Amino acid sequence: MLLCKGSQYALPAHKIHKQCFQNAWSESEFHGLLNLPTTRLWMNEKGMLLCSHISDEMEILTFGVIPKYRHLGEGTTLLKQMFQYAKENNVQKIFLDVAEDNIPAIRLYEKMGFLPINRRKGYYQNGKKDALIYVKVL
Ligand SMILES: CC(C)(COP(=O)(O)OP(=O)(O)OC[C@H]1O[C@@H](n2cnc3c(N)ncnc32)[C@H](O)[C@@H]1OP(=O)(O)O)[C@@H](O)C(=O)NCCC(=O)NCCS
Repeated sequence: MLLCKGSQYALPAHKIHKQCFQNAWSESEFHGLLNLPTTRLWMNEKGMLLCSHISDEMEILTFGVIPKYRHLGEGTTLLKQMFQYAKENNVQKIFLDVAEDNIPAIRLYEKMGFLPINRRKGYYQNGKKDALIYVKVL
């Protein structure tokens, strides 16, 4: 799994994202994010994990595995890559938000040591779904 640096990864990231989410982020959105010095991306042909790293905190911005590779350990591998990076860079906390009904993701995050700390009412889909906020303390 590679830590991919630079906006040349915007198109491949968009292509993977499109296979993982109904409302995929555009190539130009990835381009903008990947141009920021705080963005980190782990990606291969099966999935991707995009996050920000500022000071001693990280936040998962988006994370997905292509459907045919799901529930085979790929998501776990991507998270472990990020945890390794986080340890090497003295990161103390990793935050994320997840839709309240996204059971596969919630199970994975809890299995990997994330703890729920907050609920944001109506955060997704024009107020229809709450977000759960999780943190992992390293
Ligand atoms: C969430 C996601 C990234 C998980 O990736 P994955 O490669 O399938 O995850 P893994 O194979 O590493 O699964 C590890 C654990 O996650 C949980 N899990 C994964 N898929 C699950 C499913 N369909 N139902 C219930 N739990 C599931 C299980 O606890 C699993 O452990 P187990 O194998 O011992 O049962 C993937 O389902 C996905 O891309 N979903 C669509 C995009 C998305 O929702 N991203 C997260 C946004 S916050």
